Amino acid sequence: NWSMDDFIDLQIEDIRQTVGDKQVIMGISGGVDSSVAAVLIHKAIGDQLTAIFVDHGLLRKNEAQSVMDALNRDLGVNIIKVDAADRFLGKLKGVTDPEQKRKIIGAEFIEVFNEEAAKLKDAEFLAQGTLYTDVIESGTDTAQTIKSHHNVGGLPEKMGFKLIEPLRSLFKDETRALGEKLGIAHDLVWRQPFPGPGLGIRVLGEITPEKLTIVRESDAILREEIKKAGLNESIWQYFTVLPGIRSVGVMGDGRTYDEAVAIRAVTSIDGMTADFAQIPWDVLQKISVRIVNEVDHVNRILYDVTSKPPSTIEYE
Ligand code: XMP
Repeated sequence: NWSMDDFIDLQIEDIRQTVGDKQVIMGISGGVDSSVAAVLIHKAIGDQLTAIFVDHGLLRKNEAQSVMDALNRDLGVNIIKVDAADRFLGKLKGVTDPEQKRKIIGAEFIEVFNEEAAKLKDAEFLAQGTLYTDVIESGTDTAQTIKSHHNVGGLPEKMGFKLIEPLRSLFKDETRALGEKLGIAHDLVWRQPFPGPGLGIRVLGEITPEKLTIVRESDAILREEIKKAGLNESIWQYFTVLPGIRSVGVMGDGRTYDEAVAIRAVTSIDGMTADFAQIPWDVLQKISVRIVNEVDHVNRILYDVTSKPPSTIEYE
C-alpha cells in the first residue's frame, strides 16, 4: 500500500543522510525484527552495512543456513557468520541453573559480537531492529524480570556507536508487512518467536551436544508436521523441550530406559499471556510416532496443557 512505500522511501533517505559515507554494523539473530532492519538498511546503503550473525550452537535445525540463504544469498546483505558453538558449549559445560545459563549465553554473545565489531575499524553506527513495543517496554518499570531476557536489541551502546533504529515507530504486524514488501522470504517474515538463548533454555539443566541433538531433531519433526497440517501461522509458538526425565519403555522384546520429550505449543497475542494450543489429536499422534521412531534415545512424548500464567512459555 502507498503508506508502506512512503515509509520505505523516507527511511532510506533518512538512513543515507545520517550515515553518509560511514560504516554501519549490526547483530542479526534470524528473527523478524533484525532481519527486516538489516534488509531496509542494506537497501539504503548497500555494503556500508555489515551484519554479524553469531551462531551460538543453540539454533534450530537448518536455521543458520536458512537465515544466510534468505538474507545473504537472496538479498545480498553483507553478513559475517561466526561459528561460536564450541565457545558457548564450553562456557556452559556443567552449568545447570537457568538464570546462570541465560547470563552466560548473553555475556558470551556480547563478547563474540564485540570481537567481530572491533575488526571492522571504521564502523561508526550500530543498527538495531528495535520496535515501538520495545521502546515502550524499556521505558517502564514493568520490564519482564521473571527471566533475564536477552536478544540482539541489548547490544553495546558502550562502545561509542551512534544508534540507528529504523523500525522504532512500527508494531510487529507492520514490521512483517514491511518485510514482505522488501522481498524477504515468507517463512522468515512469519517465523515464530525464538528466544535469544535458543535451544539452551529448552534443554533443562546441563546442556550437552547429545541433548541438543534430541531437542533439535524432535523440534524439526514437530515443525514439519505443524506446517503440513497448516497450523504454523495460527499457533504462536510450538517447540519441543527435553525436561530430563528418563522412564521405562518397551521396544521390540527389550526394555528401554530413555528420555521423554515434551511438546509445548501456545496461542497468544503478545507472549505476555498464552493458552496451550489445542493441536488436533491425529496431528499429535503423527508427531509422537515420528519422534519416537526417528530420534534416538526417546521413548515417551508428553503434551504440555498449561497456560501462561501460571506457566511461562519457555521452560527456563
Ligand atoms: P516466557 O517464557 O517468559 O516467554 O513466557 C515469553 C516470550 O519471550 C520469549 N523469550 C525470549 N525472547 N530473548 C528473547 O528474545 C530471551 O531471552 C527470551 N526468553 C523468552 C519466549 O520465546 C516467548 O515468546
